[in-house]
Amino acid sequence: MQPVLRTEHVTMRFGGVMAVGDLNIELFPHEIVAIIGPNGAGKTTAFNLITGVYVPTEGKVFFAPGGEGGKLVDITGKKADAITRMGMARTFQNIRLFKSQTVYENILIGQHLHVKAGLFASVSGIARKEEQEMRRRADELLELLGLSRVRDELCTSLPYGLQRRLEIARALATNPTLLLLDEPAAGMNPQETVELTAFIHDVKEQFNLTVLMIEHHMDLVMDISDRIYVLDFGQTIAAGTPAEIQNNDRVIEAYLGGNTDA
Ligand SMILES: Nc1ncnc2c1ncn2[C@@H]1O[C@H](COP(=O)(O)OP(=O)(O)O)[C@@H](O)[C@H]1O
Ligand SMILES: [Mg+2]
Repeated sequence: MQPVLRTEHVTMRFGGVMAVGDLNIELFPHEIVAIIGPNGAGKTTAFNLITGVYVPTEGKVFFAPGGEGGKLVDITGKKADAITRMGMARTFQNIRLFKSQTVYENILIGQHLHVKAGLFASVSGIARKEEQEMRRRADELLELLGLSRVRDELCTSLPYGLQRRLEIARALATNPTLLLLDEPAAGMNPQETVELTAFIHDVKEQFNLTVLMIEHHMDLVMDISDRIYVLDFGQTIAAGTPAEIQNNDRVIEAYLGGNTDA
């Protein structure tokens, strides 16, 4: 099977720090893959390299627009918004929502970002018919994700778990085939984490996605992931199924044996 994402020898240096060194990962259609590792291991940097926030110091990133069956294209050096438009969407370690906007407006803005690069320039520039279609689609998304009843609430008034869900909804508004989630369960209690696990799984099925997820909650990771990559000090120290990772001595030493909240 053809991968939908591949990184080849991707390396990122910040001055003397090698935040990510020789990262080689592959994602296959409809997989849920997790990246784990201690704080500062290079996980978020890896996301930033894949999504076009950073250009790697060395190496290349390949992505198949259109998802399954799509041809891999070299996206190294492409801008983040261009990559979004190719079908890659993400959420952030610290929730990023448009704080003074409602739930519904956050979804609409997500769609506009998809249609055109400039946020406010786009609002005036879109044909009325297209605008109507986007509004219909926004309501459909809210319905599918169980956010309809909070549609007109200010996003900041939502409980934390729903804000996380809204951020995922906004990412979905760009019609991705690959979804990257940076610590989606950060700050959640056990009950919220269980609900989020089911939510991510449902969203993946419903939207026919491939998912790459950074996460610290080991129960979530082990429960939901098809495969796991483990980073430590920028290096990939292990890769495998949840069972393989749980029994890997290097992983236990570097990570699982320590403080998993690190
Ligand atoms: N923009 C940056 N400038 C300089 N150093 C950075 C930058 N981003 C990340 N780093 C460094 O790269 C390393 C990896 O960070 P990060 O990718 O955020 O780790 P993680 O997400 O695994 O906690 C850390 O040492 C961090 O300080
Ligand atoms: Mg991080």
